[in-house]
Amino acid sequence: MKTKVLRVDKSNIDRKKILYAAKIIKKGNLVAFPTETVYGLGADALNAKAVRKIFKVKKRPIDDPIIVHVHSMEQVNKIAKEIPENAIKLMKKFWPGPLTLILRKKKIVPNEVTANLETVAIRMPSHPVANALIKLSGTPIAAPSANLFGRPSPTKAQHVKEDLNGKIPLIIDAGSTTIGLESTVLDLTSKVPTLLRPGKITLEDLKKVLRDVQIHPVVKVRTSKINLKKFKSPGMKYRHYAPKADVILLECNKNLDKRIDKILKEYTKKGKKVALLLTKRRKYKNRNATMVKFLGNKPEIIAKKIFSIFRELDRKAFDAIIVEGVEAKGFGLAIMNRLRKASVKIVN
Ligand code: TXA
Ligand code: MG
Repeated sequence: MKTKVLRVDKSNIDRKKILYAAKIIKKGNLVAFPTETVYGLGADALNAKAVRKIFKVKKRPIDDPIIVHVHSMEQVNKIAKEIPENAIKLMKKFWPGPLTLILRKKKIVPNEVTANLETVAIRMPSHPVANALIKLSGTPIAAPSANLFGRPSPTKAQHVKEDLNGKIPLIIDAGSTTIGLESTVLDLTSKVPTLLRPGKITLEDLKKVLRDVQIHPVVKVRTSKINLKKFKSPGMKYRHYAPKADVILLECNKNLDKRIDKILKEYTKKGKKVALLLTKRRKYKNRNATMVKFLGNKPEIIAKKIFSIFRELDRKAFDAIIVEGVEAKGFGLAIMNRLRKASVKIVN
């Protein structure tokens, strides 16, 4: 299959191009499209056969449920059995935007989308191209991030092409996404609303609207350390967002340089290529790293470029990436969550 790339200017959308994409969705085929968080791989959410193609193309395990993207409350009503008061409050404040809400589903939503769960994840994106596509398709769009399973999420059309060229008919290219990390996922079907994946809408933001919110333990730990069986969202159990290189995450403040030196030595003595990603601006004396990059210490800036840097380092065949952590609060919680999921080792 030849993959076509359509460039669309997000501040001056060419309706004809979006109509072309919408037709592909209506026919039961896949379209990669930009959202404000990352690029998504979309299919008609009400067409089970189309949704199955997503799993096949991404090589995604079938027990990992997919988010359904909507453009109107009418579409929410079509797929959600009930909309609790908390959901209404959150939708009013944060939609359209990077917040995904888990609600009870109606039968119309195929089991393929929700991995046989009784719930469905719903999000109304704020990206004008995503909105136009959902609207013109006339159906909610099921879309995971448009990467091969386990790889870093795509923040540029080029990343989608790297992973899915020849496997899907169309990529809509509207430039880099603005946020760079996936949406916040909040479960509203548990007794206490539960944060399953932190994102741009932070825990602190949610607390301003909800009386009570809890963080699911999966958010803070490395994937391999947790008891997998007890999780509602099966997708949480896999190693995620990971480049091919070993990611080593530094969560310590003391003796940082010494510890970096030690890890560097382990790798470089075997002739391995190591990149060092720093978040605190300071002089770093060791010359053993093949590449040193300063990410900045603002979560917004790090989020925008981290997945892209992971991909770049893979292209350059780095064997290891040592990353300095940030404080796990505000949007920093999302950064640390993604780094922890990507890492093979955490240094405390
Ligand atoms: O920003 C985003 O959310 C992007 C863009 C494309 O919208 N999408 C995205 O999708 O990140 P994906 O499939 O890569 O991540 C969806 C997450 C997974 O961790 C999945 O397990 C969880 O949401 N999820 C989906 N449906 C669920 C459900 N019914 N219950 C619990 N977790 C669910
Ligand atoms: Mg994903």
